[in-house]
Amino acid sequence: MDDIKDRIDTLRREIERHNHSYYVDNSPTVSDYDYDMMVKELEALEREHPEYDDPLSPTHRVGSDISAGFEQTAHIYPMLSLGNTYSIDEVDAWVDRIEGALAGERVEIVGELKFDGTGISLIYEHGRLVRAVTRGDGEKGDVVTDNVKTIRSIPLQLTGEGWPERFEIRGEIVMPWASFDRLNAEREARGESLFANPRNAAAGTLKLLNPAEVSRRGLDAYLYYMLGENLPADTHYANMQLARTWGFKVSDHMQLLHGMAEVDRYIARCDAERHDLPVATDGLVFKVNSLRQQLNLGFTAKSPRWAVAYKFAAERALTRLRHVSFDVGRLGIITPVANLEPVLLSGTVVKRASLHNEDIMRTLDIHDDDMLYVEKGGEIIPKITGVDLSARRDGSRPVEFVSHCPACGSALVRVEGEAAWVCPNKYGCAPQIAGRIEHFVSRRAMNIDGIGAETADLLCAMGRLKDYSDLYDLRVDDLQNLPGFGITSARRIIDGVRSSLEVPFERVVFALSIPFVGETTARKIARTVGNIDNLMSWSAERLESIEDVGPRIAQSIVDFFAEPVNANAVERLRRAGVRMAMAEESTEGRTDLLGGKSFVISGVFSRHSRDEYKALIEQNGGKNVSSISKKTDYVLAGDNMGPAKLEKARKLGITIIDENEFLRMIGE
Ligand code: IVH
Repeated sequence: MDDIKDRIDTLRREIERHNHSYYVDNSPTVSDYDYDMMVKELEALEREHPEYDDPLSPTHRVGSDISAGFEQTAHIYPMLSLGNTYSIDEVDAWVDRIEGALAGERVEIVGELKFDGTGISLIYEHGRLVRAVTRGDGEKGDVVTDNVKTIRSIPLQLTGEGWPERFEIRGEIVMPWASFDRLNAEREARGESLFANPRNAAAGTLKLLNPAEVSRRGLDAYLYYMLGENLPADTHYANMQLARTWGFKVSDHMQLLHGMAEVDRYIARCDAERHDLPVATDGLVFKVNSLRQQLNLGFTAKSPRWAVAYKFAAERALTRLRHVSFDVGRLGIITPVANLEPVLLSGTVVKRASLHNEDIMRTLDIHDDDMLYVEKGGEIIPKITGVDLSARRDGSRPVEFVSHCPACGSALVRVEGEAAWVCPNKYGCAPQIAGRIEHFVSRRAMNIDGIGAETADLLCAMGRLKDYSDLYDLRVDDLQNLPGFGITSARRIIDGVRSSLEVPFERVVFALSIPFVGETTARKIARTVGNIDNLMSWSAERLESIEDVGPRIAQSIVDFFAEPVNANAVERLRRAGVRMAMAEESTEGRTDLLGGKSFVISGVFSRHSRDEYKALIEQNGGKNVSSISKKTDYVLAGDNMGPAKLEKARKLGITIIDENEFLRMIGE
């Protein structure tokens, strides 16, 4: 008996620990599958042993995403979760169960993708979006309407006809792979922690208090569930097809299925296609199509009986640890990496997997020669999710985190409040020097073609490059005899170095590798300070007046230029002809912030003239168009905008912004 109580306690503790990592830290420590298995086991034990029930058991709550800073509101209908299945047999059993409950009536099933994002409830009244609410604890959620309005695929004003005066539609806010990759690349460049998967990135973004930043991050939304008193059709499928005609994004993968054979084929088809979708999915959802049958089947306390999720198995492999090595990044951060016996996982051979930091390595408790589980779920980078303890060699010892830099031997320091160990020898540690040069030449910085990581490492090791300013002294002779090089590849680099003299100042600021100064921050800094002399001489206090620059970044800038190595490098860059000031002409300072979006300007403005706004749109990569059509992306509305225009824009579901919002979009 005591064993059972012990097991229950362990499961409760473990599940709560994972809940915290997931909901509070936005950084899961367990695969969904393992988590679900633990919950299932706990539910079963609690069912069999009601004497051990506890109102605070994690089985008595649904995870909450409520955070401070947003108004909360109660859901009209509670937002429930779905029961999970992991095999076709379990789906089959579910179909049998519901047909039994419906006294043998035939059921038509709708198959859908299970989007791996964060649930949202949208309320429409008279065809207009009035409120967007997160799932929260299922009963009440955060009102995130302003953030949701920035998602271009969500109609603010419905088109077509036949929508109920008042209804709710639910769906999933997702971060498409393309946006996710771009966001993480930017975060990496700034030395910030990365999002583990698009789900966390979408959830984190939706909770930002800055709608302009939300807009920039490129979220998307798929809708999959309509609720209300007078829905237009009496099947789920027909309602969703109508929703599509009103302007909602409804997945093309939604399909009507008759019988298990079709369900089977649907699973096989989606399993094959899911790797090519623009967004992350973690399974499928099967729903009863008829709303009458749904009503008859009803709900359990936690989920509808008329729907079930089918989860794809995370692809997992077991392989032996060869050794743990420690990578040194451009900002000196030490990352432990598991070097593995090569193993095939979702079509690629995995040899290395990041262990992220000391805390994660400790939690996994990896010993020498351990057999490790490697997983590739929604994540792109394979990760170690556990150890096969039964295969552990007797007397094997836990892997220790290094105390000294594996490259230069300096004693590592741990940054207060962070999980990372850092090598403090910034200007004498080879991988840090090479890392900064790689960053300097990268596409988003100085865009110098032809120098990859290996060439940078080699030129550093040869002593030919001591910092990025040495790039401007390179000659064809230095390069053409390097292994793998010839005259053509050598000339390409020299040409690239020369062209980089045209790169605008804002990208030069980014290229310098000032810790915490990413692409966007660099742009804002460059535009405010105007030139490098100001940047080097402003006090931390004055730097803090720049948008997005807080005390940490301001101090980081001051410290950076206080290093003679950096001040010298900047001097040499200046002498080589690298741009050290914002250009005067308006053709410079161009950005692609508006990415080809079309704007109609209407009304009178107070902060700039109409012509200035037209110029700003062009300068930031947008297009001016004179009249509103379906193709218009934004209406920039001032005072006294004509009511007919306003009405037309609303009808077409075009985003209407005021001048403040516009200026935020271009980072002013
Ligand atoms: S239907 C009452 N359909 O999965 C049932 N949910 O584990 C309402 N999800 O909270 C949900 N794709 O956030 C439904 N096609 C889909 C879905 C889906 C993703 C999410 C949703 C839900 C969670 C349940």
